[in-house]
Amino acid sequence: MRILVLGHRGMLGNDIVYRLGLVHDVIGMDIDECDITVPGECQRIVDETGPQVVVNAAAYTDVDGCEMNRQACFAVNADAVRNIALACRDRSIKVVHFSTDYVFSGMKGTPYKEDDECNPINVYGESKLAGERYLRNLTDNWIIVRTAWLYGKNGKNFVNTIVGKAKEESSLRVVNDQVGSPTYTVDVAAAVHALIDGDQQGLFHVTNRGRCSWYELTLKILEYANLTDVRVDPVSTDEFPRAAARPRYSVLNCSKFSDCVNRTLRFWQIALKDYINRII
Ligand SMILES: NC(=O)c1ccc[n+]([C@@H]2O[C@H](COP(=O)([O-])OP(=O)(O)OC[C@H]3O[C@@H](n4cnc5c(N)ncnc54)[C@H](OP(=O)(O)O)[C@@H]3O)[C@@H](O)[C@H]2O)c1
Repeated sequence: MRILVLGHRGMLGNDIVYRLGLVHDVIGMDIDECDITVPGECQRIVDETGPQVVVNAAAYTDVDGCEMNRQACFAVNADAVRNIALACRDRSIKVVHFSTDYVFSGMKGTPYKEDDECNPINVYGESKLAGERYLRNLTDNWIIVRTAWLYGKNGKNFVNTIVGKAKEESSLRVVNDQVGSPTYTVDVAAAVHALIDGDQQGLFHVTNRGRCSWYELTLKILEYANLTDVRVDPVSTDEFPRAAARPRYSVLNCSKFSDCVNRTLRFWQIALKDYINRII
């Protein structure tokens, strides 16, 4: 199959191109070649490249920045998804798109299923939910993968930040009252590969297995990176104010994905160790 990946220079986009490129004819584009917010650009690029599948890994991912730049955030995360959907709808092209655990409020207390009510508590989550709705309402042939707490070799992420800080500072303060599932982009790319090759459609939750707080994640990062001299103090969200509110508990139930493709993702600790061994 010919597959067009938008946002191929991003953290997830890069691993998607690598993974799908092992068996498919993959074309990667980023903002320089196709700014998805510009009306007509998605149509032009789809006509020029003739894909059977378009994977949209482009996004405005600065969660705190979204609070100050609502318009720019909605332009990329919502309106541009409409552009992609419209460009693909009449050409029978499947659209694969990514969303986030931040579409949920975090108040449920047990892992969120695909059909649980969405109630975002920050602008980023609102914009991603609006993007999901454009795709679902405008096309018939789509996959939306909601994932969470990503890290990978091609982007700014929490794991790299902690390793960097631990090399410079003797103690760290990390939030202990937000719980989620850290997820390696390589594993999401493999999951997307399975969904595309299995000709699946619909909404799927995809994260590494298990859950932890940012504090617990930090302890594991330092252990695996052999940086155990650093002191880590757990703090509450209230002690660590950010521009955007974050859900307290945004673990995703991934059993629909497992049932459909007959596989589960690795536990987060195993994926994290693999990443640190390879990259750091
Ligand atoms: N990161 C996470 O923890 C996380 C968690 C859950 C879900 N997700 C979702 O997963 C997907 C991938 O996230 P990521 O962290 O890999 O993103 P990322 O590293 O920020 O990459 C996004 C890419 O999109 C490009 N882009 C931005 N605006 C564009 C435009 N107008 N036209 C074309 N390309 C544009 C960016 O280019 P520039 O760098 O030049 O702006 C960048 O290369 C997103 O849908 C995100 O919402 C991410």
